[in-house]
Amino acid sequence: MALITQAIKGTQDVTPAESYKFRFIEQTCFETAHLFGFGELRTPVFEHTELFERGVGDTTDVVQKEMYTFTDKGGRSLTLRPEFTASAVRASVERGLIYDALPVKACYIGGCYRSEKPQAGRYREFHQFGVELYGAAAPAADAEVIALGMSALTELGIKKISLEINSIGCPECRAQYHNALREYYNQHLDSICDTCKERLERNPMRLLDCKAECCKEIAANAPRILDYICDDCRTHFNSVKTYLDAMGIDYKVNPSIVRGLDYYTRTVFEFISGDIGAQAAVGGGGRYDSLFRLLGGPDTPAVGFAMGIERIKMVMEAQGAEFPEPERPSIYLAPMGEAAIARCMALCRQLRDEGFAAETDLNGRSVKAQMKYADKRGFRYTCVIGDSELESGMVRIKNMETGEQTETNLATGILETLYDIGLSATLDNLNAAMEGFSGASDALSALLGDDD
Ligand code: HAM
Repeated sequence: MALITQAIKGTQDVTPAESYKFRFIEQTCFETAHLFGFGELRTPVFEHTELFERGVGDTTDVVQKEMYTFTDKGGRSLTLRPEFTASAVRASVERGLIYDALPVKACYIGGCYRSEKPQAGRYREFHQFGVELYGAAAPAADAEVIALGMSALTELGIKKISLEINSIGCPECRAQYHNALREYYNQHLDSICDTCKERLERNPMRLLDCKAECCKEIAANAPRILDYICDDCRTHFNSVKTYLDAMGIDYKVNPSIVRGLDYYTRTVFEFISGDIGAQAAVGGGGRYDSLFRLLGGPDTPAVGFAMGIERIKMVMEAQGAEFPEPERPSIYLAPMGEAAIARCMALCRQLRDEGFAAETDLNGRSVKAQMKYADKRGFRYTCVIGDSELESGMVRIKNMETGEQTETNLATGILETLYDIGLSATLDNLNAAMEGFSGASDALSALLGDDD
């Protein structure tokens, strides 16, 4: 037997044995974003191609080489999103978010599509967690989103991550820098790739992040933007650093960070890990004060970042961070004989209504085979129900770890026994949530000087 086709190169299937890790990362990221006041924004997976051509920039690698673009039945050019920022700007104007209370704080998680050469940490379908903050031009906003990124990574148990920051100035101070770059690269025209030769005139900064080996060497010695930024941009950058210092967030100024997308202005930053090989950027972002206007919206300052979920998982695994394992299922009811099947199905329904993960046989297997299954799946308790149990109205619940058996009433006892053991996942979660809530409200009362 052979499948008619296989998964597309650069895409991944995530099986239940791994998916709980992704769920943990996603949940932790959302919870952290929530603490900073960010609400989830969902946008379509595909957009009109021009959104990315204009937004990301038509001289970027992403637009020139990596987009999945197709023509739909109506003859329109559509593209699978290579990133979220352009979509989030479009949606925030189209849905009027930016006409409400500012700053707008939006976060997202979802798939992105880039036709890059697949390798460890680089996929054609990957997933990003990101945040975007609109309507705040002050440097505190830059520091705030950076702090959010650091908090999410810390909350995930990532201990070693370096934050690298830079300023790439504004359109005004960049003109002079562009001239310096053109002058430098004109001396190296023979050594750079053909794409870079083409984009040198229009967008010389794009040559700095070209992935071609020949271009990387030349880029290493190119003039640095920090030597060219204007006083306003320098003051802004200094304030960002002051706020990061105040929050105790370590960073390194790396003058070679320019980011691979065209919309950035002033602050840019990356979260870098030394534990995952060549694709070391776990996340990146920056300020992009011109993008709203470029896309036809009102002038709106903006700052944000995105992180690759797959890369976060790689770093966590490399650093031995813990992924809380999913709860083991509570109880397996093993029917013996036709009459018991219906009873077990009815009991499962009742148990699930109460929040217990309960299963029964769906294959007509022997009790021995069922027990093997229950053991393999990690059930905490099992209970065999056959004709004699139905007749006597009594069953025995077996603890799969200790082998200990508890005799109880078939009609009412299973539920009671599980409650006695304190197994209900729903109840446990509820209790934990209530503890957290009372802790938080105590802290709040203390802060407010509330004596009650
Ligand atoms: P980006 O640097 O292109 O920025 O992507 C952000 C993160 O997505 C990267 O640091 C990396 O972790 C992950 N990533 C990118 N490409 C791949 C890939 N092929 N395979 C696996 N992971 C990948 C942006 O996308 C901007 N929109 C970030 C932003 C938001 N700037 C402002 N707001």
